[in-house]
Amino acid sequence: MTDRGNLGVLPRTTTLADESYLDFLESFRDVVLTKMFPAMAAAGHARMQQDGLPLDDDSLPLETIQASFAKAAIVPTWQRFMRSQQEMSWRRTRQSFARTMDAQLKLLEETEKAGPGKLVIDPAFAVPAYARREIHLQPGGYTDDPISGIVYHYGTKVFYQGGNDQDEMHAELAGLATPPADGKMDRILDLGCTIGQGTIQLKQHFPDAEVWGLDVGEPVVRYAHARAVKLGVDVNFRQALAEDMPFEDGSFDHVFAYILFHEVPIEVIPRILADVRRILRPGGTFSIFEFPSASQHLPPAYRFMIDYDSHNNCEPYSLGFVYADFHGMLKDAGFAISEGPRSRNDFLQSIVATKP
Ligand SMILES: C[S@@+](CC[C@H](N)C(=O)[O-])C[C@H]1O[C@@H](n2cnc3c(N)ncnc32)[C@H](O)[C@@H]1O
Repeated sequence: MTDRGNLGVLPRTTTLADESYLDFLESFRDVVLTKMFPAMAAAGHARMQQDGLPLDDDSLPLETIQASFAKAAIVPTWQRFMRSQQEMSWRRTRQSFARTMDAQLKLLEETEKAGPGKLVIDPAFAVPAYARREIHLQPGGYTDDPISGIVYHYGTKVFYQGGNDQDEMHAELAGLATPPADGKMDRILDLGCTIGQGTIQLKQHFPDAEVWGLDVGEPVVRYAHARAVKLGVDVNFRQALAEDMPFEDGSFDHVFAYILFHEVPIEVIPRILADVRRILRPGGTFSIFEFPSASQHLPPAYRFMIDYDSHNNCEPYSLGFVYADFHGMLKDAGFAISEGPRSRNDFLQSIVATKP
């Protein structure tokens, strides 16, 4: 096996060649997103104006926007680059860690019962079909590849263009979690925690709290637990459904969810909101950092990009979310809502939902 150690809290790929290849893709992705996307957006908007279309009319059909954007030469190039860098990045990341598959699995098994925190896996748990999609084109998705935890970890290093190598973004977001008005934060849940980066950071911000991470994906929570054990952080993980949580009524002070909702079918969202309300105690808060939804104006280039991403980056549920009245859904679930603190990622909306 090739263990090249870690870079801080980030595992290294198994060969230097993989690391160099993925470094290139990381820089390439950065160019495609930060330099090429604004140029693509400007060219598309210019085409719309030439076609006599307004840029601030949210009722404009998407097909009309797409027809104008299709006339800008940069658009298909941007689309090809977006898709290919994503495919190349996941393929190489998976290949790299598959070389040490046996050792990875042994480590997960050995740490399963280790502490300080615990891991709860229910052998009878059945993953619903909707959660088994290869979101972001990751092979096997969150649920069907036994090493999807480490693959997701390094894959999202590239995805975040190196900006989250040491969980910096999760540290920022955990610092923006809004406690209940009385300040009591004894029990916190990170909903849709994936590999527990936010879960660990919530514990760093609220060291006296009992912190849980919950996710539908067994391989990702197993990796989250092994990682927390290695870092010596006392957090707990559980494989379960956000819409059917194995927790007592009123047993949490705070629930935190970062980019969960755009990855679940729209019809499941009310069930998740009802269950979050159930497990929160009166006055408990729910901090949500998420894709934009219908209550916000989106420039046409963003609508074009989100539609492209949904179809070409396997985000099958994001369009349903982006066009839904998420604020209305929260109110219907019985929450009082207010705008939450903004993060550096200004694409994300921030909501604080409070159980009365
Ligand atoms: C984009 S990831 C969330 C990222 C994560 N919060 C973080 O801090 O990096 C979405 C996660 O939600 C999980 N998920 C999707 N549907 C779920 C459900 N119904 N119940 C629990 N987890 C779910 C997925 O398995 C995935 O790990």
